[in-house]
Amino acid sequence: MKGSFITVEGIEGVGKTTNIDFIHQQLLSAGKEVVLTREPGGTPLGEAVRGLLLDPAYTGMDSTCELQLMFAARAEHLAKVVWPALEQGQWVLCDRFTDATYAYQGGGRGIDSSVIAKLETLVQGDFRPDLTLLLDVPVEIGLARASERGAMDRFEQEKVSFFERVRRNYLEMAENDPGRYRVVDASLPLDEVQKQIAAIL
Ligand code: TMP
Repeated sequence: MKGSFITVEGIEGVGKTTNIDFIHQQLLSAGKEVVLTREPGGTPLGEAVRGLLLDPAYTGMDSTCELQLMFAARAEHLAKVVWPALEQGQWVLCDRFTDATYAYQGGGRGIDSSVIAKLETLVQGDFRPDLTLLLDVPVEIGLARASERGAMDRFEQEKVSFFERVRRNYLEMAENDPGRYRVVDASLPLDEVQKQIAAIL
């Protein structure tokens, strides 16, 4: 594919939205054509599935149901948005991708990573991001920031121990694949965080 696929990951409250805006601006300034998108979501069908996934009405959703909904939305997103853009030479900047599935449904919910890997192969083949920025903060800081945003979605209502497992899983993946991942210390003041991101880009 001609374009590059950049994903941004992290637990709740790491400052993903602000920093994705910053990355977007940096790429535009460098003359790239950028498609900004997110998971779960990014297509009309995917956004409808996102509504189901985040709705606290479905608290207690079966974890394999959750896993399959993530990949259902992803299949549509890849086919309709991500792959066509990359084929045209555009850069795709995506707020979360399959690493979130390993971290949340794997680390958080306890689904075996070999099961996730099977769905990953079914939906993506060997397609992976070119670069993944992991914005990392301790769980207490992230959750305190997230709780300031108002109504909590189905994931935000999870316990601290859930997010500890998610964070640990992200950090392990980053350690195991240093070629693709860059870890950013997002607990620093914003200008310091953005200096780290600019240097990576
Ligand atoms: P966010 O995009 O607003 O951060 O919220 C999406 C939520 O969905 C977030 O809590 C992480 C969760 N999620 C998963 O559990 N698995 C996934 O594969 C993805 C993409 C997101």
